Amino acid sequence: MKIKKPNITELVLRDGQQSLIATRMKIEDMIPALSNLDKVGYSSMEVWGGATYDVCLRYLNENPWTRLKTFKKYFKNTKLQMLLRGKNLVGYKSYDDSILSLFIKNAAKEGIHIFRIFDALNDISHIKSSIEFVNREGQNSQGTICYTTSPVHNEKYWLKKAKDIEDIGAKSLAIKDMAGLLRPNTCYELVTKLKKNLKIPIFLHTHSTTGLSDATNLKAYEAGVDNIDTSISSFSNLYAHTATESFISMIYGDNDNPYDMKLLTKISDHFNSIRPKYNQYEGSMRGVDINMLLKQVPGGMLSNLEKQLTDLGKQHRLSQLIDEIPKIRKDVGYVPLVTPSSQIVGSQALMNIIDGARYKTLTKEFIDLVNGKYGKIPGEVCPKLLKKVEKNSPDSDVSETKSILEYKSEFSKFCSENNLKDYSKKETDLLNYILFTNEAKQFYLTLHKSKIDQVIGLQEGFGLYIE
Ligand code: CO
Repeated sequence: MKIKKPNITELVLRDGQQSLIATRMKIEDMIPALSNLDKVGYSSMEVWGGATYDVCLRYLNENPWTRLKTFKKYFKNTKLQMLLRGKNLVGYKSYDDSILSLFIKNAAKEGIHIFRIFDALNDISHIKSSIEFVNREGQNSQGTICYTTSPVHNEKYWLKKAKDIEDIGAKSLAIKDMAGLLRPNTCYELVTKLKKNLKIPIFLHTHSTTGLSDATNLKAYEAGVDNIDTSISSFSNLYAHTATESFISMIYGDNDNPYDMKLLTKISDHFNSIRPKYNQYEGSMRGVDINMLLKQVPGGMLSNLEKQLTDLGKQHRLSQLIDEIPKIRKDVGYVPLVTPSSQIVGSQALMNIIDGARYKTLTKEFIDLVNGKYGKIPGEVCPKLLKKVEKNSPDSDVSETKSILEYKSEFSKFCSENNLKDYSKKETDLLNYILFTNEAKQFYLTLHKSKIDQVIGLQEGFGLYIE
């Protein structure tokens, strides 16, 4: 029997390291593996996304666009892929179409081929313009359904969403199961029906948190899914994904394998050797967390909340916090939990636990979520909560929208005031400023400082700029 070769997207450089070491992997720890990764024959490499962009500027003192340039240099045979938060791009608030267009134009120019575009609430109107801009650049616009389970999220719901995504012009569809909730047989049924209903290719993305991902990926493959996401074994499982080598070994025996397992081992060994450097960012999960099937807290969200509670000295209240999340989710009409809704629901849960009372303090973002500012709520909002939110909503909407030109002159002024060269002239630098204003200011100031240090020698700065 001829085996159909599976198309595999490798996640280690983005979601693998995001899920396991809070996105802290530096480019210098990636570079030694890049040429080998390019030889594997992956259908694409996921390399960029909201968290990588944010962390590059905020913590790693790396320009995310320079990182992308490095990838483009090394990946000659493999397509580069990114995750885009629809109208929120790589940030947490929604941007004007002119900014979406500028970002996508530059990302495509710098080497991104596949744009996986999602909206946390699966509001199609929030991904439509990004899909159009990606199409205009001639790249692969991948519309996404953020999978979740609830009384409103049934098969009919998903089939309709998927069709809507195809109808607005997406070139492919991703099923994004960020919490690992998609059961193998449900997935088989869903993929089978999607393949029947749609013309565009179907990609599956699922996480290992609940221990289902290996079986779910295999069933999806059997149902004819067009692409599977995996992460190299030394950065797999737990909050992350099925291991690349394991998935390949499910399909092939020792003698008929078109993938070079020795090459994959070499790659895995490299990432294994650098992982201990990031020990402090590892979560506490040791195996499978079956609770997630009931509570639906995605892996990345869990490790984040755990860290916040620990910082507050309240780590003993983690299970209480995890219990609170599904209750809030029900109250807000069963929103899927993915950035930014996961952060919004997570911080409201944190508030409720710290206050010892539900909704005593409402965060601004939570009020906005209930009011539909992040997109259309899939189900019904609990009437009691709605009343409370109405009482606390601001009288007028003060959300600001600045034009690109306004941002540009603001950034230019900042540069001249700080004796920096005018970074606002370059679109990618300007985008850093628009999307992460405070982090970008800090980044360019530090960049300037470290240049001075290189000139005068490191003696004085030593210890100051080394993380
Ligand atoms: Co993911």
